[in-house]
Amino acid sequence: MTLDTPLTRDSGALHPLICGAMYPCSNPELVAAVSEAGGIGVVQPISLTYVHGHDFREGLRLIRRLTSRPIGMNALIESSSAAYHKRMEGWVDVALDEGVRFFVTSLGKPTWVVERVHAVGGKVYHDVTERKWAAKGLDSGVDGFIAVNARAGGHPGPLSAEALIEDVGDLGLPVVCAGGVGAPEDFVRALGLGYAGVQMGTRFIATHQCRASDAYKRAIVEADEDDIVHSERITGVPVAVIDTPYVRRTGLRAGPLARRLLRGRRTKHLMRTLYGLRSLWQLKRASLDRDAVREYWQAGKSVAGIHSLEDAGDVVRRFVEAAQEARGLDDAPAVPHPTQEERP
Ligand SMILES: Cc1cc2nc3c(=O)[nH]c(=O)nc-3n(C[C@H](O)[C@H](O)[C@H](O)COP(=O)(O)O)c2cc1C
Repeated sequence: MTLDTPLTRDSGALHPLICGAMYPCSNPELVAAVSEAGGIGVVQPISLTYVHGHDFREGLRLIRRLTSRPIGMNALIESSSAAYHKRMEGWVDVALDEGVRFFVTSLGKPTWVVERVHAVGGKVYHDVTERKWAAKGLDSGVDGFIAVNARAGGHPGPLSAEALIEDVGDLGLPVVCAGGVGAPEDFVRALGLGYAGVQMGTRFIATHQCRASDAYKRAIVEADEDDIVHSERITGVPVAVIDTPYVRRTGLRAGPLARRLLRGRRTKHLMRTLYGLRSLWQLKRASLDRDAVREYWQAGKSVAGIHSLEDAGDVVRRFVEAAQEARGLDDAPAVPHPTQEERP
């Protein structure tokens, strides 16, 4: 029995389960292991190049040697830096050239990505946290939404998984649930809510294929959802992290001057860039360095369902089995979503 949904049809994957892009945790071996097991591993370009040290094209080829199944790429749209935008355009072109056909865009207006990807028959899903961002994505012609809820790792949104599907579920595109899925029953619940699949991050950090430090993985396995707090000190906007002694010591809010500059009309772009650059370095060090004293370990509230270190492929298989079992028990289709033809 397959879990056929609009996400599997759009991505070419066997199962509607994405290993979301994770800076700095997306290493090629993790991306490949998830895709090889029938899910979709998504490449995070800065993680692939800056953290894990691969030339972008060579990194994609390394993944290709590990699996021939579909993979995805994350394109974070940030137009305030011309140099970054140019770099991202180059990465998208290389990925298309290397046969990647599934893209996840974050922030901004993804029109230019959609145009290039559609030109070769690929699909673009856009990260959204509320209806207004979904409307922007719709304007750009995206094919689906990744609905990032309040329990997600990375930058969470303001809404619950239930509220978010209510908010964006009537726009005629498939919606994928991102956030709070750490155990098979969470996957089953998300499909039952009408999501076309899930995107998981935190669960895949606690796997043998992820190159994060053992201390970080152990902290995820040991944490409960109350141990997840949201810190503004890393990127200037709330990021979900484990409440370590370092986080408690330094507090969760940006300093008063930084807050003022982050809000100022003239200064906010520069401040975000500075925060962004600093966070790249800080998070790289914290995730890979066993002895890091400044521990910013990103994780979402899905830690509640994560109790052991596993093989990434086994995670995919265990989740899919649970969903197949649930679907077998319940004769009705688990994912009542419009087909391509039925959509407005
Ligand atoms: C360590 C970490 C880093 C992340 N980095 C990114 C990123 O670079 N780009 C992005 O679009 N999402 C990023 N995310 C979000 C994930 O792709 C995914 O949507 C999220 O982790 C889902 O929530 P979960 O952690 O509860 O499974 C990150 C999440 C984590 C935990």
